[in-house]
Amino acid sequence: MELIRSVSGMQHYSLCEKRKGLRIGFVPTMGCLHEGHLSLVKLARENSDLVVLSIFVNPIQFLPGEDFAKYPRPIKQDEMLCRKAGVDLVFYPEESTIYSTDHSVFVEETSLSSGLCGGSRPGHFRGVTTVVAKLFNMILPDVAVFGQKDAQQSRLIQRMVRDLNIPTRIILGPIVREADGLAMSSRNRYLSVTERSDALCLYQALESARQLVGEGELSVAPIRSAVMTRLSLAKSAQVEYVEFVDDRTLQPVSRIEAPVLLAIAVKIGTTRLIDNLVLSPA
Ligand code: PAJ
Repeated sequence: MELIRSVSGMQHYSLCEKRKGLRIGFVPTMGCLHEGHLSLVKLARENSDLVVLSIFVNPIQFLPGEDFAKYPRPIKQDEMLCRKAGVDLVFYPEESTIYSTDHSVFVEETSLSSGLCGGSRPGHFRGVTTVVAKLFNMILPDVAVFGQKDAQQSRLIQRMVRDLNIPTRIILGPIVREADGLAMSSRNRYLSVTERSDALCLYQALESARQLVGEGELSVAPIRSAVMTRLSLAKSAQVEYVEFVDDRTLQPVSRIEAPVLLAIAVKIGTTRLIDNLVLSPA
């Protein structure tokens, strides 16, 4: 497995391999890797000849007061996991190689990014689309894999690729969960023992919605109230949003008539967790 830290080295590698006719599969991450990330590596492998995984904690997608400084950076462990997962190259750039001190060009999506996490974290998605566009220009991937865990992010990236004619195919991977249902996240390690057990309320709330829809309930109001009730049972939970939106447009809906994304963001103590589920009428 190779490790590259410079942008020019990365572009050189990709250009050489592509000239040989090899297809590059790309998995962008902020590191602190877990099974969720590794499931994306597997998808990348199945859809390309070489897998590149980037590790970069992107400062411009964190708001002031968020966890940029304390975001875990266990690089040695990440390298080991990448090697085991069969990653061909880890791109691990330094912040100064990604952003010049006078960096002034940004990529901004102006529709899908307004609600959900975009509403509670203004500027976050501008940071995400900007860094992903930059990483695409460095890695030149034929295929890039994103997780359904960050549903809004993945929809935005698909829109960016479409609207900017980026020649990269986007593949989405399903949410990987712990045995009890908690969605895997690098931020789960911030949770204390009681918070870890409270954090299960996200999954259980989503499951209560799935069950109601399975029983034929298609009106959002009673499903929302079941979700809120389940979340309110967790003492350390503070709901940031519970939204039912059209899975394509991310606009709020009041009935489950086409696939609906039920997206939730909850603070467990000081740790912000997100999870989601796509609900479809039977
Ligand atoms: P990060 O949070 O490290 O996530 C990297 C990728 O892993 C994302 O596509 C995310 O959706 C996916 N992922 C995270 N948890 C997952 C889980 N439990 N199951 C399946 N996939 C999961 O998302 C980012 O980094 C950044 O915003 C990034 C795209 C790298 C831009 O900085």
